[in-house]
Amino acid sequence: MSLHSIASADAQENFLQCLLQNSDNSTTSISKVIYTQNNSSYSSILDFTIQNRRFLKAATPKPQVIVKPLQVSHIQSVIFCSQLHGMQVRVRSGGHDYEGLSYISHVPYVVIDLINLRSISIDVEKTTAWIQAGATIGELYHKIADTSGTLGFPAGVCPSVGVGGHFSGGGYGILLRKYGLAADHVVDAHLIDVKGRLLDRKSMGEDLFWAIRGGGGASFGVIVAWKVELVTVPSTVTVCSSLRSLKQNLTQLVHRWQFVADKFDEDLITGVFLSSVNASTGGNRTVIASFESVFLGGVDGVIPLMQKSFPELGLVEKECTETSWVRAVLHHARFPIEASLDVLFNRSPVTKRFYKAKSDYVREPMPEIAFEGIFELFNEKEGGNAEIMLVPYGGKMSEIPESAIPFPHRAGNIYKMSPVVYWYEEGSETAERHISWIRKLHSFLTPFVSKNPRASYINYRDIDIGANKIRGYTSYKQASIWGRKYFRNNFDRLVVVKTMVDPHNFFRNEQSIPSLSSWRKQKDD
Ligand code: FDA
Repeated sequence: MSLHSIASADAQENFLQCLLQNSDNSTTSISKVIYTQNNSSYSSILDFTIQNRRFLKAATPKPQVIVKPLQVSHIQSVIFCSQLHGMQVRVRSGGHDYEGLSYISHVPYVVIDLINLRSISIDVEKTTAWIQAGATIGELYHKIADTSGTLGFPAGVCPSVGVGGHFSGGGYGILLRKYGLAADHVVDAHLIDVKGRLLDRKSMGEDLFWAIRGGGGASFGVIVAWKVELVTVPSTVTVCSSLRSLKQNLTQLVHRWQFVADKFDEDLITGVFLSSVNASTGGNRTVIASFESVFLGGVDGVIPLMQKSFPELGLVEKECTETSWVRAVLHHARFPIEASLDVLFNRSPVTKRFYKAKSDYVREPMPEIAFEGIFELFNEKEGGNAEIMLVPYGGKMSEIPESAIPFPHRAGNIYKMSPVVYWYEEGSETAERHISWIRKLHSFLTPFVSKNPRASYINYRDIDIGANKIRGYTSYKQASIWGRKYFRNNFDRLVVVKTMVDPHNFFRNEQSIPSLSSWRKQKDD
């Protein structure tokens, strides 16, 4: 055993002792929720909510300790003891971080896995809900649908996404154009800060409350629960899927879609999924576009709206199905529309894939040649399992000021474009080839997307756009490289809040907001 591993085993032991000695054991002893690599269930607990096979390798760094709190005091003990014994903290709710930052670090660390803190209580009269951070959006939707047929919530589509990470980075789904983001509907929160204090909106103050609604929770503390305002949805919602091929003028259709999709009536959202598939003849690949619409009302409403605003699509009634809001979410999450609502409880994907994703915002319609260039890239071998999702903005998104919460991508954005490349084969060479492919696509898109800064969505985390040093200190200048892309001018206010609430930069990861005082301290040392 090297001196280094003896020292780190000692540090881990001291940390564990500290947890046992500094916990409120009056209800459940913390010893029942601590897992180290000596526990037989350690790996299954760690791997359970990991979505991306890129991070399921033996070589992926692993936490010294995982704690699955059952009560607030367990989290407070971890925060206290981590500071005392030099452990970094990573907080995981649903585990969907695209770069695995909620459970991977390159220094000794502990994962606080909030999976046990997932209760949801709905007040139908006040149309509000308290949701613990370890709940998933699927669990929230299930509970809402159980309670009322005319309430909904404007968050994401994939049911296994955790509310802890999702709401703290924005969170959008099929109600985006009508109601904005999940974070726009947060009205209170419970957060444990670096001093271990349990704060609510009133005691944390409006600056910190602003920061955690879109600025990424991981920089500011551990969010234990959110209080949200639910929204009204009609009892009938219509979903329409219109598949179009290159032979059906797909390029011209997608080009045209850019001029109309952000101007539709806000009860209607029509997103586009572009992907490459096997051609029906000749063994070649070809591109298809699936125009996926959700209308808050019956099919009689959507056909005339579409005929008026986007007649080129040629939407017909047989492409549409009337259903409920919650089943429209199921449909978008690619479950059969009639599936049991219990699929909303699944936390771990049935098939785990390797993937790498990126995001961009489009402010001027792209020319047809840009789409043709994308389709050529799809034809490359590495692009075979890629997909690009185009999500229209406008509606409510254009009405909310850029600085209302840290999420800044509002008026002026026609749509968000998010490419993702999947692969199934093991091996670092294969991974490199697919990651290089999506980087090439990203570089190809440069002239056509937002500039100065080239904006990205924090919930589609992409470490390629810049990262903090994980050892040592990160300067404001370094962090602004990725920070301005996610937050535009709100980045400065986030740095001020961080400096106020976590001056020594305890809550940190490769893309956490840096505190100015910790950087100045390093310059003075
Ligand atoms: P995870 O637990 O990995 O946390 C993500 C980040 O938040 C980490 O930095 C973590 O430390 C921090 N964090 C988590 N919980 C915290 C807490 N309680 N307190 C403080 N910090 C905390 N997005 C979207 O807007 N709409 C969509 O439809 C989808 N769909 C989707 C599908 C799939 C398959 C994936 C993998 C991802 C998405 N996303 C998405 C992106 C998703 O919103 C994003 O990954 C969220 O950060 C996930 O939150 P989790 O809690 O699941 O992640």
